[in-house]
Amino acid sequence: MLSSYLKSLIKKASQDMKTIVLPEGEDKRVLEAAYLAVQQKVAKPVILGDVAEIQAFFDEKGWSMEGIEVIEPQNSENLKNYAQLLFELRKAKGMTEEEADATALSPNYFGTLMMKSGHADGMVSGANHSTADTVRPALQIIKSKNPDMGVSSFFIMVSNDEPFILSDCGLVIKPSEKELADIAINAAVSAVQFGIAPNVAMLSYSTKGSGKGEDVDKVKAATLLATALAAQEDYKKYGINIDGELQADAALDMTVAAKKAPQSQVAGKAKVLIVPDLNAGNICYKLLQRLGGCEAYGPILQGLKAPINDLSRGALVEDILGAIAITAIQAQNN
Ligand SMILES: CC(C)(COP(=O)(O)OP(=O)(O)OC[C@H]1O[C@@H](n2cnc3c(N)ncnc32)[C@H](O)[C@@H]1OP(=O)(O)O)[C@@H](O)C(=O)NCCC(=O)NCCS
Repeated sequence: MLSSYLKSLIKKASQDMKTIVLPEGEDKRVLEAAYLAVQQKVAKPVILGDVAEIQAFFDEKGWSMEGIEVIEPQNSENLKNYAQLLFELRKAKGMTEEEADATALSPNYFGTLMMKSGHADGMVSGANHSTADTVRPALQIIKSKNPDMGVSSFFIMVSNDEPFILSDCGLVIKPSEKELADIAINAAVSAVQFGIAPNVAMLSYSTKGSGKGEDVDKVKAATLLATALAAQEDYKKYGINIDGELQADAALDMTVAAKKAPQSQVAGKAKVLIVPDLNAGNICYKLLQRLGGCEAYGPILQGLKAPINDLSRGALVEDILGAIAITAIQAQNN
């Protein structure tokens, strides 16, 4: 049973279908999600894996493979070019031609190199790989859209049918002030891509000086940096509002906001919640999901030149379908 938010993502993705690589063709959940993606016109999936085994799975289910491309990296006519591209991109980092030949064969690298070569618009992996294994090729090959900004991640949390953004809950472990500002800006841009108001609250245990400490100072400094970034030409068009430091209640509740931060343009109306580090972010999203009854979509990478997203290893078929839809929507905005 698909949630109404997932249905809205599918609808948005289907307006301009993108080619999404799924490197984990050995995983039945991935094959099922690819089938649903075609049936629901979410994307054009390209699965990496064994053609005969994948065909056998579809035959057993009685499903058509129409609309799905399957590539065996070791037999691909593009493998040599991808390996050469990888070598060119990574030789300055010490990669040899032999290493590039071997690395290009690994499905996550192969899929990422397909994207770099313009043969795919996005990639979803991680059902059988760690976050680091999925994300590293993206960071090494696709890289940040804005070279002065770091890549980070966000979750779309849905509470009572209302989506909001929580960031970073998945990637940057201990962000510096500048990295926290980058997270805020990239999360605001992500919000706009998903139709969410870019009202950004920089969260802390303090609201406007109510609490003291170096962690509060860090959030204040990041707020200033993020406010300056939002005023830059590249970001002005998104209409980003940022304020901090704010406690979560002041960020979300108008009555509390009126008491604690009456001058704030964001307090009480925040839709993008920026947490100070990965401990806070990861704990928050899991609590909201397990105790707060929120749907959680993510982690979704932001700030990359082209979208690559990571799945949790416990992902269900509909989680994978959601990740494909989200990746396709990000690709539409590229
Ligand atoms: C993502 C992660 C794996 C990267 O770590 P790593 O592989 O050790 O990365 P490295 O430091 O070796 O960097 C690899 C490349 O990525 C780049 N990179 C790393 N973090 C980056 C970031 N946030 N933005 C942009 N580039 C980044 C590095 O500059 C480097 O590029 P280069 O090789 O071209 O110089 C790491 O940040 C991580 O483990 N994060 C936490 C993930 C996690 O456990 N999440 C919780 C569960 S969801």
